Amino acid sequence: MSVLAIRQVTRTFGGLTALDGVSFDVHEGEIFSVIGPNGAGKSTLFNIVSGFDRPTGGSVAYQGRDITGVRPHALVRAGIARTFQNTQLFEELTVLDNVLVGMFPVTRAGMVSAALRLPHALREQRLATEEAQRLLRMVGLEEFASTPAADLPHGLRRLLEIARALATRPRVMLLDEPAAGLDSAETRELASLLYRVRDSGATIVVVEHDMGLVMEVSDSIVVLDRGRKIAEGPPMLIQKDPAVIEAYLGEEASDDD
Ligand SMILES: Nc1ncnc2c1ncn2[C@@H]1O[C@H](COP(=O)(O)OP(=O)(O)OP(=O)(O)O)[C@@H](O)[C@H]1O
Ligand SMILES: [Mg+2]
Repeated sequence: MSVLAIRQVTRTFGGLTALDGVSFDVHEGEIFSVIGPNGAGKSTLFNIVSGFDRPTGGSVAYQGRDITGVRPHALVRAGIARTFQNTQLFEELTVLDNVLVGMFPVTRAGMVSAALRLPHALREQRLATEEAQRLLRMVGLEEFASTPAADLPHGLRRLLEIARALATRPRVMLLDEPAAGLDSAETRELASLLYRVRDSGATIVVVEHDMGLVMEVSDSIVVLDRGRKIAEGPPMLIQKDPAVIEAYLGEEASDDD
């Protein structure tokens, strides 16, 4: 079944067309990658699917329901979680508290009953803490539970963002460049984490520049170039696709570094 149906999504910023009539489907339980050179429109697409931005044209459906323009918090409740290309953590809060913050949309005890320390609120808080610790174990951060997020080693910050996204119990996880800044051992760990998240029942959509990782973990790939979809298919076909090779060679040729 199609979990996400992207239909003719277009986004212009003034005279610039960041996305140009992009359509594709993400199916339940797959690891799906969106790749393409810098500026191709990948993050713009994520912003639209997660409600942080609205398309100029086209639509996004989630589990058969039109969600175009629905606000991020409502989408989180509906089961769509994301991480950001530039990690967005609560720097002064501990690692554990960063995960607990992610749980707020799903814990019933509101701020008031928590403040009054009502029994059901205390029980819910204890369960939430246990769940947050479980998620930290899942991403391998349990030993950092009481460390302020600001003091986490760089490569581990993305793992914390993933744990916080998992805390919302997503059906769909959108990960924007989860391997950026990771060394090869950390990237191996990330791959196994992606499989565990997928096996726990979530669908994963990844934007990623690490082609080794993409080709290994993806069931299906969409390639964007300058806002347009230029290819779609399984890793084996994408690797050989002349239009894809051309797009990446063009990028290398124009790279200054
Ligand atoms: N808010 C904005 N206002 C104006 N232009 C924008 C805005 N957001 C994105 N763009 C432009 O849209 C294009 C696509 O940007 P986007 O961030 O989606 O690319 P990307 O594929 O994620 O690139 P990268 O791999 O470098 O992260 C770029 O030309 C970018 O400068
Ligand atoms: Mg981006």
